[in-house]
Amino acid sequence: MKRIGVLTGGGDAPGLNAVIRGVTVKGAQLGYQILGFRLGWKGMLEKDYEELSLEKVEDIHRRGGTILGSSRTNVAKVPDGFEIVKRNLEELDIYALIAVGGDDTLGVAKRLHEEGGRVVGVPKTIDNDVGATDYTFGYDTAINRVMEALDRLHTTARAHQRVIVVEIMGRDAGWMALEGGMAGGAHVILIPEVPFKIDDVCEVVNGRYGPGKSNYAIIAVAEGAKNPEVDEKLKEFGAPVDDFGHVLRTKMKVSLAQALAEIIEERTGRETRHVVLGHLQRGGDPSAFDRVFATRLGLKAVEMVEAGQFGMMAALRGTEIVAVPLEEALKESKTVPERRYEEARAFFG
Ligand code: F6P
Repeated sequence: MKRIGVLTGGGDAPGLNAVIRGVTVKGAQLGYQILGFRLGWKGMLEKDYEELSLEKVEDIHRRGGTILGSSRTNVAKVPDGFEIVKRNLEELDIYALIAVGGDDTLGVAKRLHEEGGRVVGVPKTIDNDVGATDYTFGYDTAINRVMEALDRLHTTARAHQRVIVVEIMGRDAGWMALEGGMAGGAHVILIPEVPFKIDDVCEVVNGRYGPGKSNYAIIAVAEGAKNPEVDEKLKEFGAPVDDFGHVLRTKMKVSLAQALAEIIEERTGRETRHVVLGHLQRGGDPSAFDRVFATRLGLKAVEMVEAGQFGMMAALRGTEIVAVPLEEALKESKTVPERRYEEARAFFG
């Protein structure tokens, strides 16, 4: 019986279990034995795996997280990492590997393919920033979480006539802040792709206060949104800086939302609070869209193995799941285009 290996790497995303189930069910139908590697590339390096049976994957598409676990292990950083992976694949007699992950995991998959491995990719990330696919699974669930959080924050902010700054995940791509913010009716949305001015934010805030007005404001800010004054404030809070004095945003132990909230309060005189949604956006069970989307990706990945479409990734184009080269997907990360931000801007204020 031919064997297919499957692994899930990087930050988890709701829908990973649906992919695993899709792979296992389709694999069984086509006569493959499926081995699931634990903790992403770590399990592949350490030959840590389990056989996936139909019983094991029954109903798991309804659950968040991943039954295989995940890690950010990078094979390229391990001495002879690719040699070890190739040897393990051979020793375990694995015909092909399905790697489910974001650009880091898929980057390793691409390199493995270049080194002769038979690999198929499946794009995953709540950030929705993988190229060559219209969406990544996990994103729909995550922006629904953002929307629900904003819905709740509106009522308390309005009751207290406060400003609330809500920090949303997204280091380099602002999709979650943009679409979660639009769905949840944020009064300003700040994303990494468009550097912002604090005075513009304060102007919107002040414009919402006065007789006959709502007298509260919700600011949705992506964790990677950029502004030099916020960076100064972060330094005051003890954020780490590099040799050039730039704030090391990836190593911050203080939140951008807190820094921004303090500046807004100082400048507008309006009582301001902040909330960091953090991993609440990633945890929990997938939406119907993500369950179906991720299932279809899993089915397609096995069909791609059967068709010998290696070095390729299953992707959503319109309503169809198609095979695209990993190279195309990884050329550049998919960020928010100017015109999409302009659409959102129409509702600021
Ligand atoms: O890539 C997904 C993501 O959730 C990003 O939005 C976020 O910046 C990062 O992962 C957080 O990573 P970790 O779970 O390792 O803190």
